Amino acid sequence: MEQRNKTLGEFLIEHQTAFKYSTGELSKLINALRLAAKVVNHEVNKAGLVDILGAAGETNIQGEDQQKLDVLANEKFIQTLKNREIVCGIGSEEEDDFISINSQDEQHQNKYVVLIDPLDGSSNIDVNVPVGTIFSIYRRVTPIGTPVTLEDFLQPGINQVAAGYIVYGTSTMLVYTTGHGVNGFTLNPAIGTFYLSHPKMQFPETGNIYSINEGNYVHFPQGVKDYIKYCQEEEDDRPYTSRYIGSLVSDFHRNMIKGGIYIYPRSSKARKGKLRLLYECNPMAFLAEQANGLASDGYRRIMEIQPTELHERAPFFCGSRKMVEKAESFMAQYTDS
Ligand code: AHG
Ligand code: MN
Ligand code: MN
Repeated sequence: MEQRNKTLGEFLIEHQTAFKYSTGELSKLINALRLAAKVVNHEVNKAGLVDILGAAGETNIQGEDQQKLDVLANEKFIQTLKNREIVCGIGSEEEDDFISINSQDEQHQNKYVVLIDPLDGSSNIDVNVPVGTIFSIYRRVTPIGTPVTLEDFLQPGINQVAAGYIVYGTSTMLVYTTGHGVNGFTLNPAIGTFYLSHPKMQFPETGNIYSINEGNYVHFPQGVKDYIKYCQEEEDDRPYTSRYIGSLVSDFHRNMIKGGIYIYPRSSKARKGKLRLLYECNPMAFLAEQANGLASDGYRRIMEIQPTELHERAPFFCGSRKMVEKAESFMAQYTDS
């Protein structure tokens, strides 16, 4: 019989029974994210056409086509999750506060909250460089049936039930984990179906790519400066290659496939770095660990940090295990002050 790749839909059904206490709610939730991803993919793909279509009078009466894509992506994900009544709360990088969702259906009281970076790397949209979406799913800690509270969102990353990203690149991929490894699905745009193209993704133990915005060098902590010099030394398999797209999702995706480290450190200008712990660091950390990589703030495991605010930031060192360990060893020579 002809061998063909599984679709994401088939994969979800097959793996649903593998979860403890599974009621199918998580599979439905990932399904909803899959749908929103396809809608956003469509918008991202025609980004360059907006002005052209607009000039031809193709924008609708609300001017929707001219909305900034990160706002639009935010709306699409929130709308889809709300319509499907699949979560009890949403936290988004684009929203000041979390959103509480009360299910109309008494029988269907949802237990999951979703945290999302609807469009990651948004500065790259205008120049046709890959962007992404990052999501993270937690079980609520307050009682089901009551409105969610901040406590439901301020959970350490180790509590994540699932996390993933969509990369809108040369092809569009959805990559996610439910704590049983990482699997990647590629969208066939002709029929709108995601196929399992990258089963059991793993970071190589080490690599030769380092990804950091070196323009900020003077503001970096000494440990990071030392590590960069180490990457550039001519010894053994070094100097390494420098690759920095400026879209965390794309940089992570490349490093996971080829082997590498991504660093966004704290700096003298931003004491906790730039990336958001809940929407960016934790989901990527969960994926990294599930793919045999590591994620740290330079000193501690990212997923063990207890968040204290929704939009909290954290320094981020993530990628191939041996490379993160090496960077941490440079950091350890200085106190984290
Ligand atoms: P976002 O577009 O969601 O605000 O995230 C951008 C993040 C991350 O994706 C990227 O790696 C980093 O910011 C780039 O920052 P710099 O321009 O400071 O390097
Ligand atoms: Mn982002
Ligand atoms: Mn964003």
